[in-house]
Amino acid sequence: MSILVKNNVHWVGQRDWEVRDFHGTEYRTLRGTSYNSYLIREEKTVLIDTVDHRFSREFIRDLAAEVDLSTIDAVVINHAEEDHAGALGELLALIPGTPVYCTNNALDSIVGHHHHPEWNFQPVCTGDKLDIGNGKQLVFIETPMLHWPDSMMTYLTGDAVLFSNDAFGQHYCDEHLFNDEVDQGELMDQCLRYYANILTPFSPLVTAKINEVLGFGLPVDMVATAHGVVWRDNPTQIILKYLEWANNYQEDRITLFYDSMSNNTRMMADAIAQGIHEADPLVTVKIFNVARHDKNEILSNVFRSKGVLVGSSTMNNVMMPKVAGMLEEITGLRFRGKKGSAFGSFGWAGGAVDRIQTRLMDAGFDIALSLKAKWRPDARTVELCREHGRQIARQWALRRLEPARSLATHGAANDPAVSKVPAASKAPAATCAGESMLCTVCQWVYDPALGEPDQLVAPGTPWDAVPETFLCPKCGIGKAVFEPVLGKAAA
Ligand code: FEO
Repeated sequence: MSILVKNNVHWVGQRDWEVRDFHGTEYRTLRGTSYNSYLIREEKTVLIDTVDHRFSREFIRDLAAEVDLSTIDAVVINHAEEDHAGALGELLALIPGTPVYCTNNALDSIVGHHHHPEWNFQPVCTGDKLDIGNGKQLVFIETPMLHWPDSMMTYLTGDAVLFSNDAFGQHYCDEHLFNDEVDQGELMDQCLRYYANILTPFSPLVTAKINEVLGFGLPVDMVATAHGVVWRDNPTQIILKYLEWANNYQEDRITLFYDSMSNNTRMMADAIAQGIHEADPLVTVKIFNVARHDKNEILSNVFRSKGVLVGSSTMNNVMMPKVAGMLEEITGLRFRGKKGSAFGSFGWAGGAVDRIQTRLMDAGFDIALSLKAKWRPDARTVELCREHGRQIARQWALRRLEPARSLATHGAANDPAVSKVPAASKAPAATCAGESMLCTVCQWVYDPALGEPDQLVAPGTPWDAVPETFLCPKCGIGKAVFEPVLGKAAA
């Protein structure tokens, strides 16, 4: 089976409706995928990429029905991963000696996967051309680390088709091949999911490479990806979208994700989200339990968010493992320009929140005050969580919000614990006299009633009388990182 792409270019790929995992089990392909291979028949016959190794037999069968395999003059391998070069072995067994055009880096990865150093490799660099007759050429463009060192794109002059391989693709399976033929919402969801989960770490390279390609001044009539649709209707839309996504992308969105042993941390998440929505009704708020939700959807939401709140119960004085796994992924994805904060319930020790906060900081997030609650949140603590959400909403607002409502409207007017300045605001020290102060780095609390005798701060010393040389006895950081405590339950 083939599909006409343009003039003498046909799609000869394979569709995979069933696949649900990629990269082991790290990427959930909820809408399947396709492995796009293209056959160009000018004076020379050239195959662009093959398909996943699991479809080798069907691929060779269908390709042989389309073209006499012995007439194939060249194979271009834009990327060595097995979903594109997987059928190369079976193909070259039938047409040995056929030249394989690829990058120098691909020599290592193709041989590393197939163990055939004797294949007729023709390594190319950016700007190299292959004349295919009828006045047309293939121009090669190296795209290292988008997303492997061996990646490249191939441009067909005359028809102005850019064979972009993984870039601009999406794991999306549909009987229709072209972007204007499919559900636009589904398509863009999968494009964003693909970018967020695979390409985010390489965003600076995405920007540089796209600008380099645009600098060539080549017309682009179609972008023929290796997964999903061929962009024929306004193909520059996906290129511009990539430039947008590569530029520290964020929307007016806050994502909360957590794991919860006894539902207590979930109660906190719900209350914090309520507070965010109350203070900023226009911000999008998404909540996920990492143990129950598709992690790629969570990561896509993190990608879209201006800030994330990460919650965990404390288990064995550390965070719950699925939260730790998510934070490891987030660290690897190297998000930039986002805010973060930790929360969680604990029983006799609250190590999880401290560790999450540190991990978020290590991952490059701009950290806001964290929140702990001991045991199950009671009504007052739930209200403190809501207030925390309101404060987060105000701190992270992308536009001017209405002034905070009186605490009386939140039913907590008689609770001195919540009659505080916003937790992460930089309140003048004089307003904090007599109040407990929280170290926002390690969560240690300065209690004026106790002072800090080890630093010669006598019991009864209010915060504004504590010397500026004071250092947190737990983490060693100075007064600047201390904020008023919301209440004992939020210590
Ligand atoms: Fe990098 Fe579609 O494989």
